[in-house]
Amino acid sequence: MPAVTRFFHPILPARKLAPGPVRVTVAGRSYALFRDARGRAAAFMDECPHRKAPLSAGRVRPDGRLECRYHGWHFDADGRGRSPSQPNLTKCDAVTMQLVERNGYLWLADPEVPLSALPAVEWDGFEPAGAFSMPFAAPLHVCLDNFSEDEHTPWVHTRLGWDAADVDSIEYTAENHADRTDVTYRGRQRDSWSRLLVGLKKGDTFNNEWETRFDPVRTIYTLYWTEPGTQRRRGITARAAIFMVPETDRTTMFHVFVGMRIEDRRLRLFAPALRKLAVALSWYEIRDDARFIPTVADTPEDQRGMRLGKYDKPLVHNHKLLKQIYFGEDQVVPISTVRGV
Ligand code: FES
Ligand SMILES: [Fe+2]
Repeated sequence: MPAVTRFFHPILPARKLAPGPVRVTVAGRSYALFRDARGRAAAFMDECPHRKAPLSAGRVRPDGRLECRYHGWHFDADGRGRSPSQPNLTKCDAVTMQLVERNGYLWLADPEVPLSALPAVEWDGFEPAGAFSMPFAAPLHVCLDNFSEDEHTPWVHTRLGWDAADVDSIEYTAENHADRTDVTYRGRQRDSWSRLLVGLKKGDTFNNEWETRFDPVRTIYTLYWTEPGTQRRRGITARAAIFMVPETDRTTMFHVFVGMRIEDRRLRLFAPALRKLAVALSWYEIRDDARFIPTVADTPEDQRGMRLGKYDKPLVHNHKLLKQIYFGEDQVVPISTVRGV
């Protein structure tokens, strides 16, 4: 996999680094994370400059330096290394990465990437509700495809969205742009216990609108419900930024940031409980996808030969943007060669 750390990726909840070391893999490259004695988080390439032992197999010394397990070379958070058996040895430094603590997560990028490139996970009018991570046992392109369509909703999910009986009355739009895809779905919310918790009426319309971006790969979903006919919005809107971080060519780590806007004043009284509910529902929905995804993990990346339909239009464009923007490749399959779109 080509290097992708010219983009900031969320890689670990900050609380999980205490003090480490922790090994994290992004696009086939591994990094050793730790905190020094002052609590500063740092990331190195996970190989010792001496003989390439994984630094993540070492330990953080009481003085806050990361010590290699093999011959005891140790490093401060800036990567400055020393060899205990040859104290005058120079050029002992570890290869450092940029590691930023933001929104409760650690974000990794190459050292020169500006902080302004950190993707937003909080939005005007939305209150942060929480965040979580979940492993997916499938390659990035399979995960991305799954999160680029809602056609699978009645078969993979059981709470949000519509039933199989309503699939032929779904309203749907998809727009391809040079840097993203925009998608909207609208359908009759299936009846479930969660409807009552958020004050929905039977037969309300479920709206799911999202954009997919590639710097790094993520979808930002906005979910809300409307009264059928009047299109009047019900009292809450949830938004979730779902980052899909490739680990190996077989596994993808998801990091999800949830926000919530409560428009109904009466519901505001229950804001803390509703925010928890939004995170819990997001977790269950995404867990549905994570449980299913091994079934399709071997799906080839090449879409030629697939009988694609209108709901797959964003998938085709997303593959192109994945290659162009995320992996920085120039060679792309022309959309016109894919059947059915
Ligand atoms: S390989 Fe790390 S100290 Fe030798
Ligand atoms: Fe899904």
